[in-house]
Amino acid sequence: MWKPAEKIKHAPNPGLSPSTEQARASKLFSPVNLGRLALKQRTWVPAMVPWRATDDGFVTDDVVDWYSRFAMGKPGAIVVEATGIRDIPSGPLLRIGHDRFVPGLRRLTEAVRVASGGESRLLIQLIDFLSVRRRPEPAKYFAKFLQVDDQIREKLNAQNWPEEQIRAHLSGLDETALAQILSAREMESLRMGARERVTDMHLEHIRTLPQVLPDLFAVAARRARDAGFDGVELHYAHAYTMASFLSATNDRDDGYGGAKENRARLPLEVFTRVRREVGDEYCVGCRFLSDECIEGGNSVEDAGYFGAEFARAGMDFLSLSRGGKFDDAQQPQVGGAVYPYTGRSGYECMPGYISDARGPFGRNVQAGAWIRQAVRAAGCTTPIIVVGGIHGFQQAEGILQREEADIIGAARQSLADPDWFLKIRLGQGDQVRVCEYTNYCEGLDQKHKQVTCQLWDRLEKNVPGIKRTSDGRRRLTAPMWNPSV
Ligand SMILES: Cc1cc2nc3c(=O)[nH]c(=O)nc-3n(C[C@H](O)[C@H](O)[C@H](O)COP(=O)(O)O)c2cc1C
Ligand code: SF4
Repeated sequence: MWKPAEKIKHAPNPGLSPSTEQARASKLFSPVNLGRLALKQRTWVPAMVPWRATDDGFVTDDVVDWYSRFAMGKPGAIVVEATGIRDIPSGPLLRIGHDRFVPGLRRLTEAVRVASGGESRLLIQLIDFLSVRRRPEPAKYFAKFLQVDDQIREKLNAQNWPEEQIRAHLSGLDETALAQILSAREMESLRMGARERVTDMHLEHIRTLPQVLPDLFAVAARRARDAGFDGVELHYAHAYTMASFLSATNDRDDGYGGAKENRARLPLEVFTRVRREVGDEYCVGCRFLSDECIEGGNSVEDAGYFGAEFARAGMDFLSLSRGGKFDDAQQPQVGGAVYPYTGRSGYECMPGYISDARGPFGRNVQAGAWIRQAVRAAGCTTPIIVVGGIHGFQQAEGILQREEADIIGAARQSLADPDWFLKIRLGQGDQVRVCEYTNYCEGLDQKHKQVTCQLWDRLEKNVPGIKRTSDGRRRLTAPMWNPSV
């Protein structure tokens, strides 16, 4: 995991908590509208994959428990984890690519409604992603995966060698020698695992993404509406397909790459098609990056342009993340898959407590404020959600008062304490379990293990009725909180 060179250790500092009266008068606990969807307060639990779905993408009791636990803290909105819009196997990640997923998702929306007493709105994040292969054993790569083409033969001066001989020869070379023979892409497939890109125009299923994706997103959004979700968040952030279309690294030559107007085209077409499918009444927004935080990637200026275009097109909210790209990810172990949160951009997405002088708390706020300005300058009042190390009332309220954002997102702080917003609202902020930004939870996500928080996953885990992880070592949800009023 990448860390800033300075390696300064930062302790969380939630500051003073308000009294009930102060909380009631605050902006944080005041209502806000996402288009026609009214939120009771400006508190937001962003998407977090907890690795609790079945292997074929269905909602389980553990998924229901996980979101119900967040709902007990009664935030303004909860966004269900990245959920795949295609009907293809994708491991224990939630899916919405077929009508058979709707009953399970409906059970989830009903449970959350009950657990929050109807106070929290529930959205679902819709994602498309391209294929990423695990890092191969070099021997296997040379025996099976590498395409032996004329270029390789030429470089080796081996035009007449049988293919098997070439494979065996390459298998015996070191990385420096291989780099003279293989293309950069082949070297990457060997070192990191083969990964498709939106710019792979030689592949038909990639070339036709602009024709295929609008319908896939639209039908998925309709299913979300039918399952009782209050809205959908189109996942245009991090390392996935739609973010790759927006990226400054997208040089497709079919009108969907190059200039930023072209890079925004598919995301706008997807939104238009989704809107047509679910109607004007339904809440549709997106999550995108305020900064890709990679060399040659989008900057905050690009993001300001995209934000203004999305708002003008009629999106109901814009949720801002940052970084989280494959481009600068670290090399995985053999047999492991590349994880887009291991490089500098990954650090910017989920900054940990070992940081630079700026620290991990509120790193996305300045960029968010800039993008909000760009959206307001375009004449739109679309609410902006910001995340990144936000863990205290003063910090959250300050961001809203200075009009740097309209809604406060807190992922890891909500994982550390799903009741934290409620505790603050009830004047019991001193009882909040404060996130230490250790990224233990993110480490579990990286290993595709059930995500929990180290601050509570060993507490009272042997009490009868407490559900535990598959290895029995950790409890699956945070202990209950009984307000002392
Ligand atoms: C375990 C875990 C899973 C995550 N899964 C998602 C996801 O499915 N979709 C997404 O957009 N972001 C995901 N994120 C990123 C968070 O939504 C959030 O942007 C990030 O953690 C920074 O916010 P924070 O500092 O409040 O935690 C995940 C984060 C964590 C810790
Ligand atoms: S494990 Fe808990 S304390 Fe550590 S970063 Fe995750 S939520 Fe915060």
